[in-house]
Amino acid sequence: MLTFALTIAAYLLGSISSAVLVCKVLNLPDPRTTGSKNPGATNVYRIGGKWAAISVLIFDILKGAIPVWGAYFVNVEPIYLGVIALATCLGHMFPVFFNFKGGKAVATAFGVLLPIGLDLGGLLIFTWLTILKFTRFSSLAAIVAVSLAPFYTWLLKPIYTYPVIMLSVLIIMRHKGNIVRLIKGTEPKVNNKLKI
Ligand code: G3P
Repeated sequence: MLTFALTIAAYLLGSISSAVLVCKVLNLPDPRTTGSKNPGATNVYRIGGKWAAISVLIFDILKGAIPVWGAYFVNVEPIYLGVIALATCLGHMFPVFFNFKGGKAVATAFGVLLPIGLDLGGLLIFTWLTILKFTRFSSLAAIVAVSLAPFYTWLLKPIYTYPVIMLSVLIIMRHKGNIVRLIKGTEPKVNNKLKI
């Protein structure tokens, strides 16, 4: 019963779209209708710059980490920690408060994976930053980091490999449009600001 309640709470917390809220508070255009139309930190960076994007990033990482950490501290079994992690990311992707139109859950997934271990978090950030530095494509950096996440998890905490595989597949599927644009050569680089 506790696990079920935590799963619902995790989904509801995941459903809070910080990108939409931050843009609303700062009087910026709605990220769901501007730029890549993705309510996430990268698109908010294009729309509103560094500090708006950092606020979204921090909020989305925390909303991922808090439910999993909370469940861990009340001794929820590892398999259900995976369910709670997935519920949080599904909330971000299909938010009940925003007509089920959400984002790609990259920052939220990073947040849900942090409680597994700071070593895993460190490896993921290192991968993301390396690909971003050399390509300037936030989406490609996310796709590569997310694709390697199951392997890193298998190396460091094998018990969580299956939920991480599911999470990775979901996130890569959410990047379908980015993958098509990367292949066509039309994906915008992260430093391409929007002229609003
Ligand atoms: O974290 C989202 C990123 O991978 C892609 O964002 O706005 O370029 O579709 P965007």
